[in-house]
This record gives sequence, structure tokens and C-alpha cells, in this order.
Amino acid sequence: DTFFRGQGKLAGKRVLVTAGGTIERIDPVRYITNDSSGKMGFALAEAAYRMGADVTLVMGRTSAEPPAGVRTVKVESAAQMLEAVAERFDGADIVIKAAAVADYRPAHAHSQKIKKSGEKPVLELERTIDILETLGRSKRRQFLIGFAAETEQVERYAMDKLKRKNCDLVVANDVSAEGAGFNGDTNIVQIYGPEGLIESLPLMSKRETAGRILSVAAERLASAAA
Ligand code: CTP
Ligand code: CA
Repeated sequence: DTFFRGQGKLAGKRVLVTAGGTIERIDPVRYITNDSSGKMGFALAEAAYRMGADVTLVMGRTSAEPPAGVRTVKVESAAQMLEAVAERFDGADIVIKAAAVADYRPAHAHSQKIKKSGEKPVLELERTIDILETLGRSKRRQFLIGFAAETEQVERYAMDKLKRKNCDLVVANDVSAEGAGFNGDTNIVQIYGPEGLIESLPLMSKRETAGRILSVAAERLASAAA
């Protein structure tokens, strides 16, 4: 195992992966989250490990067990995920943002359980910080991979995210397609680079998908270093 890792395409590289959904607290017993299972991020962490990388996995709420061999850091909110990632960003060669980060959080986190009152209470929300965009602004040599979960106009939105967040790759998936997206063990993704579509992968296991994504990343990293 150690022998093969030492020969791997990512031997000696440090890879930082985020996976799972974030949790934004409303009160001590309630929160807002999403359908992310964490499986795509776990598959990426595992693939990076198999390819020889030193892997740190920052994980939110997930519905599976993280792979063996990788360092795990558990977080809840988008704010905590940003802190965990920012701390480790300088030392990373590849950063993969597979987590489904909440776009909004409750504007007021109540320290006590909220009692019911009234018929139509309103939950006020505020924007969270965009972690990937923040990293994109401060990146130097880091190779940055973002995800784009879409239900329509996949190419347009994926390229828009790649540019806006200063990513080197964006992995887009049409989460409304059969066999793609959140909970299953398969996915159907397109890999975009600054020049546009690089590869459109057929339906395959998240494990195989992860291997293809990391192969593209490893090749581009190697040619950037050459
Ligand atoms: N992302 C992030 N921080 C956020 C929101 C998103 O780092 N607060 C990252 C995700 O991890 C993913 C990428 O940005 O890698 C795209 O996430 P997505 O939800 O598809 O895009 P958004 O920019 O949030 O746009 P929208 O949800 O409106 O499509
Ligand atoms: Ca979003």
C-alpha cells in the first residue's frame, strides 16, 4: 500500500477536501441543513489518498463514514468550515470544495429553545460567507477545484462560478438527472477548466468519478510545474 502510494500521481502533494452539508443553527435543538451525503467528497479524499497524497478532510454533516487513511476535521457551520479551511490553505497544493455550504443562515442564533408563539412566525436569514470565493481571492499556487450543483443551464452556471471564484476546475453536476447528485453512489459530471468543457463523464460510481477528476488535476498541476 505504502509502495503504491509513493509511486502515485499525487505523491508528496497535500490535498484539502471539504465534504458534506453545513448545519446552521436556529436554536439549540433546531437547524437548517441540506441533502448532501458527503459521498462525493469522501470518494475524492479516498482517491487522493490512493494516489499518494497527504489528505485532510474537513467535513460537515454527512450520512456515511469517512475513508481510512485521511485526517478528518469535523465542523458544523459555514463559518466554522471557513475557519478550518483557511487555517490549512497555505500548506495545501490542491483544495477541493465538494461540501454543500449553506448560502444563508438564521440572522439570530437563539441561545435558548424557541417557544412557539403566533401562527406564521418569520425566520430571518442572512448570507453566509462564500468559502470558495474567499479562497479564490487569496490563492497563490493552490490548485482550486469547485463544484457546481445545478438543475438547469449547467455549462453557463458552471463557467460563471469558475470565473467568479477563480477556480482551476469546476465539477458540475445536473442534480436533477437520474443517477446524479446527492445521495446515491453514482454521479454524472462535467469537468470545466478556464478554457471551457474538458471532459463530460458518463454515469459512473463516485469512486471512479473522483479518480477522473483527480487525474485531470494531477496532469494540470504537473504541466504547471514543468
Ligand atoms: N461554496 C462555498 N461557500 C458558500 C457557498 C458555496 O465555498 N457559502 C462553494 C461550494 O462548496 C461549491 C461552489 O461554491 O464548491 C459552488 O456551490 P453552489 O451552491 O453550486 O454555488 P453558489 O455560488 O452558492 O451559487 P447558487 O447556490 O446560487 O447556485
Ligand atoms: Ca449555493
